[in-house]
Order: sequence, then structure tokens, then C-alpha cells
Amino acid sequence: MATFIVLLGPPGVGKGTQAKILANAKKLAHISSGDLFREHIKNQTELGKHAKLFIDRGELVPDDVTIGMIRERLSYADCKPGAILDGFPRTPIQAVALEKMLAEFDGQVNIVPYITAPESVVVGRISGRWTCRLNGHVYHQMFNPPKQVGVCDIDSSELYQRDDDKVETVTIRIRVYLEQTIPLVEYYRKSGKLVELNGAQAVEQVSKDLCQVVKN
Ligand code: AP5
Ligand code: MG
Repeated sequence: MATFIVLLGPPGVGKGTQAKILANAKKLAHISSGDLFREHIKNQTELGKHAKLFIDRGELVPDDVTIGMIRERLSYADCKPGAILDGFPRTPIQAVALEKMLAEFDGQVNIVPYITAPESVVVGRISGRWTCRLNGHVYHQMFNPPKQVGVCDIDSSELYQRDDDKVETVTIRIRVYLEQTIPLVEYYRKSGKLVELNGAQAVEQVSKDLCQVVKN
């Protein structure tokens, strides 16, 4: 049976960073809703143009659009063994839709690692983040700097700061997270699948803790 892991946590806590490491270790697909939206925006698709209106304001993209995009991604062959879901679901409606979709793929959410850190930590991580233009590789000016300023180590493309990483937008993203995504913490806690992790530690320590809870 396929394995599906949902990473929950505030903006900038390190979901993407940990999802990449875990997906490699477990040979599972990595599905990041934010990365999928940014890919659509880069390719100027209709979905991307629509999503950009919400993302630039720090708001959530409407559920129907988001669910449709994830449904399509889950149908790709690399999701057969399962996937790490990073940034989806983010609302109770999305969580219920995910259960239905996974049932169609003969799967279910197995575990929900909930990565937490104080607001000051996540704000510091977001403000120092640099993202690669070509493939979305992520750096941090202090915690994970590229070898050459402004250049991706892996594909030499330009590093940029995400438009929604502006201080004003980050404040809105955190508020939206508290209002719309925190209810999922209770939802998954009740189902017995939630495991809390201290995301304020170094990347390697969070990875170790995450691998441990997934193994158990
Ligand atoms: P999305 O891209 O998902 O943004 P987010 O949830 O705000 O999270 P981030 O990607 O900003 O942070 P992260 O937790 O992945 O941290 P990262 O690993 O990069 O969504 C963007 C927008 O798209 C949303 O606002 C919304 O509009 C829309 N959207 C997406 N999904 C949606 C959905 N399901 N429904 C509706 N709308 C949706 O790390 C951050 C930085 O910290 C990096 O620089 C990294 O190098 C560094 N770092 C990571 N871990 C550590 C550590 N342990 N120690 C030190 N530095 C660290
Ligand atoms: Mg991310």
C-alpha cells in the first residue's frame, strides 16, 4: 500500500527543506503545492495567473483550484509508492478532499508530522531565504548559503527572493495560517496521526527527528 505523509507547519518553518530530504530517503514523490503554483506562474498558465492574485496578497488560493491541481499531480506515476505532501492540505475542506482522493489511489494519510517554531524563527528564515529561478532550490543567507552569492550551486541559475516573502505579506500569511490551517492540527490530532516536532533546531536535527517518527 502506498505511503502518504502530510507535513504541517507555519510558513517558513522548513517544510520544503525537510520534505526534499525525506522524499529522497524514502524514495517517495515530493508534492509541494507552493512549488506547483510557482511553476504554473512561471509558465503563465491560466491556473498560474489566477493563483498569483491570491499568492501575492498572502491569501490561500481557492480550495477547488488547489484540490484540482493536487488531484492531477497525484495521478503521476511517481506517486504510486506514495508521496510527501508539503503545503497541502491547508484547510479542512482540502483535508477531506485528500482522504477521498487517496482512497481512489488505494492509499490514506499515514502520519502527519507537525513542525513548529516560534514566529520570530520562521520570520527570520523567510527573510533570509533565496530561491533558485530555474528549479526552486532553496538557500538561506545565514543557515545554508550558496557558494557564490546570488547563484544556485546546483544549476547555476539566478537566486531570487519570493514576492510573497515581503514582510507585509509574511504577516498576512502567518495570520491566514493561524485562522485557516491551525484547525487541521486538531483534525489530525483526533485521528491519532499527528506527531509534533521541534522545527527550531538545525536542519540535520529536524531531519533526524522526522526520520525517527516516520520509521516508528
Ligand atoms: P508555500 O510555498 O507552501 O509557502 P509556505 O507554507 O508559506 O511555506 P514556505 O514555502 O514559505 O516555507 P517552508 O516551510 O517550505 O520552509 P523552507 O523549507 O523553504 O505557499 C505559498 C503560497 O501558495 C501560499 O501563501 C498560498 O497563497 C498558496 N498555497 C500553497 N499551498 C496552498 C494550499 N494548499 N491551499 C491554498 N493556497 C496554497 O525554509 C525556509 C527557509 O529557512 C529557507 O531559506 C531554508 O533554507 C531555511 N531553513 C529551513 N529549515 C531550517 C532550519 N532547521 N534551520 C535553519 N534554517 C532553515
Ligand atoms: Mg515551502
